Amino acid sequence: MTGTSKETPAAPLTKGILLSGGSGTRLYPMTLAVSKQLLPVYDKPMIYYPLTTLILAGIRDIMIITTPDDKPQFERLLGSGEQFGVTFTYRVQPKPEGIAQAFHIAEDWIDGSPCALILGDNLIFADELEHMLRSAAKRPYGATVFAYQVRDPERYGVISFDEKGRALDIVEKPQVPPSQWAVTGLYFYDGRVCEFARKVRPSARGELEITDLNRIYLEEGTLEVDRLARGCAWLDAGTSDSLMQAGTFVHAIQSRQGLLVGSPTEAAYRMGFISHEKLLETGHKMKKTPLGQMLLHVAAENRPGKV
Ligand code: G1P
Repeated sequence: MTGTSKETPAAPLTKGILLSGGSGTRLYPMTLAVSKQLLPVYDKPMIYYPLTTLILAGIRDIMIITTPDDKPQFERLLGSGEQFGVTFTYRVQPKPEGIAQAFHIAEDWIDGSPCALILGDNLIFADELEHMLRSAAKRPYGATVFAYQVRDPERYGVISFDEKGRALDIVEKPQVPPSQWAVTGLYFYDGRVCEFARKVRPSARGELEITDLNRIYLEEGTLEVDRLARGCAWLDAGTSDSLMQAGTFVHAIQSRQGLLVGSPTEAAYRMGFISHEKLLETGHKMKKTPLGQMLLHVAAENRPGKV
């Protein structure tokens, strides 16, 4: 038996998958030559945002799954992970055969540990994000997903709740949505995830659906659904409109508040993954950009010995 049981204490969750496959057909022609997750969201490549989320969850061992064509570009952008104090492992998903396939591709690497998964086009911003992520990562048994109220739930996995607020059912892209609550592309699983992923069969559209994996936990009574509060923003940058909205959102916060959004370097520094010198080094490398200036500002604010 692999993984976690209710009796044995779970290993801490330190692994996460960043899934950046897919053909990005809803963004053609932009994605004919460039991976969707490398397109800019204002001043950073899209993948920086979900990467920041994993870092804020305390995850340091990260597998990046991409298409065979795109893998070299991701490696060029992100390298070994040393710049962020994490370790990247790269794998390919030859064809887009569903999100749950990530757990087949990564099975030997996961090796019975708990593991998080985030989709490369999911941007989540919340005051309480760090706290929420930390508590999801600490939960020893079962799975955690995040639900967000949207106007167009039919585009997503949708969760319905009973009158006591307990999750009742979860369906993928329903024509008649049972609620307004979409499931975001951020998931935390216990050590049984690969075992469960092997039980998932291709759906009518021929994909191994993440919703079917989540339903296994739901039916077992171990799916935790955290509802994101009104003040949170969840954006998926999968269409021209949402890509534009995401960029505008990031620009508005950064220029108005002077706070960085979606910077893995800043997150890694705040999590203690990289040193003050490393933060300075990255800031200097990018000093001709507002992003670099903001990193240098964070470094100055936190310089050793400052009172
Ligand atoms: C996928 C999942 C869906 C989830 C969504 C979040 O959909 O299948 O359940 O709500 O990500 O972004 P896709 O983006 O592959 O259509």
